[in-house]
Amino acid sequence: MGRLHRIVQQPMIMWGVLVALTRSEPLIGENPGSISRVRSGSFKFVALIRDNEKGSHLCTGSLISKNHILTSASCLEGRKELENLSAIFGITVGRTARSVFGISSKLTYQDWCRNSVSCTWDKFTDDISILQLDVADTGLRAASVGYQSDHLKNSGSKITVIGWGSTYKLFHPLVPRRATMNIISKQECEQRVRSLVPPCLADVQLPNKVSCAVSDPMVFPVEGDFGGPILYGGHDHATVLGILIQRCPIRNKHDFDKNQVNLILQLSTFQDFIEDNTR
Ligand SMILES: *[C@@H]1O[C@H](CO)[C@@H](O)[C@H](O)[C@H]1NC(C)=O
Repeated sequence: MGRLHRIVQQPMIMWGVLVALTRSEPLIGENPGSISRVRSGSFKFVALIRDNEKGSHLCTGSLISKNHILTSASCLEGRKELENLSAIFGITVGRTARSVFGISSKLTYQDWCRNSVSCTWDKFTDDISILQLDVADTGLRAASVGYQSDHLKNSGSKITVIGWGSTYKLFHPLVPRRATMNIISKQECEQRVRSLVPPCLADVQLPNKVSCAVSDPMVFPVEGDFGGPILYGGHDHATVLGILIQRCPIRNKHDFDKNQVNLILQLSTFQDFIEDNTR
């Protein structure tokens, strides 16, 4: 009886340690080997969109003009009131090393498309929006947008992703995390996605404007990381090529799968939307 007890208990203790380790590492991702905090003073254009009332990290964005942030549309989906939200640059606590702004308006690609000729909106892919801050000029240096780059279309390209997400609901990192990933081909991506259980995309035909990225060890974005910038290569850059829109399997679940993929929306197809709305 005692022996059986020991056999049953041992794997459970190991499982507990594993869970504790993965949960103690803030994001982006779940793998300490491939994720690091951004160095102080770098990537100052990266914003945390925070719900001040709930104290939660909603998503990550990039300052791309004097007062506009680019992020995912699902970030503020369903929110009509923006009064308790803020965009934070720098560090989430303390007085000196951060800049905090209110958000005065949001415009999703879907909204813009309604009033624009020759525009079609797709719910799955076109997860992009622009937030206007409540000041005319943040005084911070904005990132530029790399509309002309083919980097995200080429399999094997190395990219950096930055996210300000939380590993689990009660832990919020003070600065964003960065990780590197590699772009894989559409074919490889669709193959991986088909093998996932449960499947995460009903339609595994990836549109050309969506890139697929993976890493080894696995990087695992969660709530708060989405909308974050995708940058060229593994070095410090301030040219945003895409935004992180989704991961498969489904968001916000801590279920590991080696075939997991991260989906990126290429900004090259959104030049009109972005330029028209950030002047
Ligand atoms: C904003 O926060 C205040 C204080 O918690 C609350 O009373 C108010 O209802 C909130 N507004 C919205 C739109 O959620």
